[in-house]
Amino acid sequence: MIKVLVAGFKGRMGNTTTKMVIQNTDFELTGVYDPNATEKNINEILEFKNMDIPVYTKTSEINTENTDVWIDFTSPSSVYENAKFALMNKISPVIGTTGLTSEQVDNLKKIAIEKTTGGLIAPNFGISAVLLMQFAQHAAKYLPDVEIIEMHHDNKLDAPSGTALNTAKMIAEVRKQKIQGNPEEKESLLGARGADYEGMRIHSVRLPGYVAHEQVLFGGKGEALTIRQDSFDRISFMSGVEVAVKKIGAYNELLIGLENLL
Ligand SMILES: NC(=O)c1ccc[n+]([C@@H]2O[C@H](COP(=O)([O-])OP(=O)(O)OC[C@H]3O[C@@H](n4cnc5c(N)ncnc54)[C@H](O)[C@@H]3O)[C@@H](O)[C@H]2O)c1
Repeated sequence: MIKVLVAGFKGRMGNTTTKMVIQNTDFELTGVYDPNATEKNINEILEFKNMDIPVYTKTSEINTENTDVWIDFTSPSSVYENAKFALMNKISPVIGTTGLTSEQVDNLKKIAIEKTTGGLIAPNFGISAVLLMQFAQHAAKYLPDVEIIEMHHDNKLDAPSGTALNTAKMIAEVRKQKIQGNPEEKESLLGARGADYEGMRIHSVRLPGYVAHEQVLFGGKGEALTIRQDSFDRISFMSGVEVAVKKIGAYNELLIGLENLL
């Protein structure tokens, strides 16, 4: 049995993840963590009334001896300290929270090596998003003019999404740096052309009703290609999280991207 703690369990992703861990017969939920929780035990919540799992609201309360994997769906401002805490205690972090800076990721990689502890940061646990990133990287070799549109629910804190940023990074690995559009273009409304990642434009849409969606648009001479993926339900991320929890114990470094575990 893999002993799992879910950080951010009161949130949208945390709630879906908590249910998945409880239902998976290979996993044992040994604790849940959320500084905003008011409960002491998960059985105070109606849908978990038959369980007996401690709720932690401070990291100092966490029984680190009883935890193999730390699943994190929290917030951009807390994920770094959480991942660091997990690694320092030789707990493997499986991080879905987006918004880590490149410097923070580099620091976490160093700590993972020092502590010989495996971990994963996955900007997207959905198989359709992982495939979209791979297909987009392949297409960019032939069609280097590309713009990314990502669409999310309006409670999302970070922009652009981790998936959009990762798509742009993967494309940048294979295409020559290129400034797109007219070199003379001017924005009459600030932000009209979106964010710039190595000459590629990324546009972030925030609307109620959406979950997580992305389109990568390629333009060529007289032709265009659009690759799109939609995550309609948070359950779509769970098979990726399950794979990560099962496999991460075999590693002793921090991996970036679910594709490295599949
Ligand atoms: N990688 C993926 O596949 C994927 C998919 C969906 C969402 N996400 C990301 O997951 C994160 C969470 O999304 P959400 O929609 O569930 O957010 P949410 O706001 O619904 O939930 C976040 C939860 O984290 C808790 N929290 C805040 N600080 C904390 C801390 N220090 N430690 C533990 N918990 C803390 C909050 O109280 C809240 O309950 C976001 O960064 C989002 O972009 C990733």
